[in-house]
Amino acid sequence: MQTAESIGEMYRDAWSRFATGVTVITTIEPGGAVHGMTASSVTSVSLDPPLVLVVIGEERQTHGLIESTGRFGMSILDSGQTDIAKHFATPPEVRGELDSQHIGKLAGSPVIKQAIAAMDCKVSAAYKVGDHTLFIGEVEAIQVGQGDPLVWFQRQFGGFTDQNSNHGSS
Ligand SMILES: Cc1cc2nc3c(=O)[nH]c(=O)nc-3n(C[C@H](O)[C@H](O)[C@H](O)COP(=O)(O)O)c2cc1C
Repeated sequence: MQTAESIGEMYRDAWSRFATGVTVITTIEPGGAVHGMTASSVTSVSLDPPLVLVVIGEERQTHGLIESTGRFGMSILDSGQTDIAKHFATPPEVRGELDSQHIGKLAGSPVIKQAIAAMDCKVSAAYKVGDHTLFIGEVEAIQVGQGDPLVWFQRQFGGFTDQNSNHGSS
């Protein structure tokens, strides 16, 4: 039988094998500054109405900002945006400033420019589960762009590989 300690260690390892896309969740601070957080625990929940889920650790600054503003932007990053993902994964007290040219706006939320898709979401429900909160956001505006996704796998950023193009056509 595995101990709780060994399960705790292996839990992170097991999930590092689950490749995901990478998003930035954007919120607005009380003074009006844009705040961002890199997030991969996101998913689509419902088509009608369009609902997304984002899972946020309760110690994250983003957690309190989503609670207080009731809104967030979600930007799905392009493979060329690794630096932005790393920036917003760094603790806010040491991350410095991101060049404001990377920040755009979509309806009620800030978003990341040149992301391959972005959404403006209004929180419709929140569920505290363990040490995280599941925030459900109703999508009120969307923009869809071009490009290849940034991928997170085994604690590294990489790109998507299309198997069809690897195998040739002959
Ligand atoms: C690829 C990647 C995905 C992440 N996904 C999440 C996530 O889904 N939820 C979360 O709470 N933290 C996630 N994190 C950690 C946060 O990005 C990190 O703790 C960040 O500094 C929090 O910023 P904040 O305190 O300003 O909100 C992720 C980090 C990385 C590198």
